[in-house]
Amino acid sequence: MTVWRKALAGMGAALAMAGGAAVAAEPAARATIEIRADAPGPVIDPEIYGQFAEHLGGGIYGGVWVGEDSKIPNIRGYRRDVVEALKALHVPLVRWPGGCYAEEYHWREGIGPRAARKVRVNNSWGGTEESNQFGTHEFMDFAELIGAKAYINANLGAGTPQEMVDWIEYMTSSSRSALAQERRANGRDKPWSVDWIAIGNESWGCGGTMRSEYYADLYRQWSTFVRPPGDRPVRKLAVGPSGDDYAWTETVMKSAGKMMDALSLHYYTLPTGDWAKKGDAVAFGEAEWAATFKQTLKMEELVTRHSAIMDKYDPDKKVALAVDEWGTWYDTAPGAPALNQQNSLRDALVAAINLNIFHAHADRVRMTNIAQMVNVLQAMVLTDGDKMVLTPTYHVYALYRPFQGATAEPIKVTAPDYRQGEVTLPGVHASAARDKAGVLHVALVNLDPKQPVTVSAAVAGLAARKVSGQVLTAPAINSINTFQTPHVVEPKAFDGARLASGGFTATLPSRSVVVLDLVP
Ligand code: AHR
Repeated sequence: MTVWRKALAGMGAALAMAGGAAVAAEPAARATIEIRADAPGPVIDPEIYGQFAEHLGGGIYGGVWVGEDSKIPNIRGYRRDVVEALKALHVPLVRWPGGCYAEEYHWREGIGPRAARKVRVNNSWGGTEESNQFGTHEFMDFAELIGAKAYINANLGAGTPQEMVDWIEYMTSSSRSALAQERRANGRDKPWSVDWIAIGNESWGCGGTMRSEYYADLYRQWSTFVRPPGDRPVRKLAVGPSGDDYAWTETVMKSAGKMMDALSLHYYTLPTGDWAKKGDAVAFGEAEWAATFKQTLKMEELVTRHSAIMDKYDPDKKVALAVDEWGTWYDTAPGAPALNQQNSLRDALVAAINLNIFHAHADRVRMTNIAQMVNVLQAMVLTDGDKMVLTPTYHVYALYRPFQGATAEPIKVTAPDYRQGEVTLPGVHASAARDKAGVLHVALVNLDPKQPVTVSAAVAGLAARKVSGQVLTAPAINSINTFQTPHVVEPKAFDGARLASGGFTATLPSRSVVVLDLVP
């Protein structure tokens, strides 16, 4: 019997004492976990915590940008409240300007004096007027302001390679070329760093309805011309599959795998799995709660199987799998701005589960962007006029911040299933990682909406002196934060964990996310 299994076996006595004030009256189920802090895995790239900001609904205008003359408090035109909220999350990377919108975006229309910029129609998202007030300078300045790296999506669908090449030169050149001088004339002397460039977006769909073979050829052509100055390398991303389109991955990796730094994967969680009737953001019962997690847990299989195909062509894992669009997608309420949706406790658990999956695959999944940052889909913050509220998803990102750059530790969970109707799911979902100071962070999700679960954890390779943590839960599965009641779903100190010989025990409230810190 291994040391940590012995530790698990000896933990029964400690369990009786493991409850805490946060634990409800229902009898707790029992689960065990094993953490191998003595067998460290890959580093969790901070870019797994990237976000996506598209010109769509209130994603940019009103959400990030209000303009310098707005009555809404702002920093050079960016909403102060949103900037401060995002800074607190340590957002590593922001993807812009789309999405589908990237494939109709012409960067020249968004530079120069704002008053002279052309209004365009945003054909991707409802034919709304795009004022181009938020362009390259505004985005790059915003990324710098919140301390994030920049991920630019080039227009492959309706643009030209020359347009992309010029854009890169405009942003990154320190020379005295006409484009660099134009940037200077527009107010930016120092070149920016562009960390990632995507060559197209969803080229199998809104980006051009292409066949994989055709896209792979275009990618080879376009990526040849991405030649930024040597001191400012730009990593190149190729359009990858939608969900389980493994054939797309196969073709693009085979044909162009040696010419890219990342291949994207897009997968959205729809409670019903049906694009025609996705489900409501707030009006849902337990059946839809369970169905949502069933859909979101598919991410594990998608990442595993796409990675296996990538392994064939890239055994050294030089190419990252970048899940650069993921999150929940519900039916938009009538009259609401495009893709605007509320965010409930359910979204918090969805975020936590996906982040756990990305941690487990950190060797290949090295960048992701949740869709999206503000006011769109599974947003971090929602705004309306001068009001702003932090969503439950925001709070998960805050709780998980210590995982950025930490070393993933192998973890095995043995938990009773959570059953709802025809749906059977693992009751507990988890990940663990050790930060540079040696602190072990353990994220635990209890999917059961009614029953707490007591977890007995054996930790090999770490003698902890102290355990503390935070918990995110709420009175109901569909609890939300609103402008009027912004504190319904927010983290609280967790007192349900105890150190035990060889590990710890923790009683997770029903429908909760708990993040523990074990200090050696
Ligand atoms: O995130 C919303 C949209 O979803 C993006 O524009 C597109 O790439 C995807 O289909």
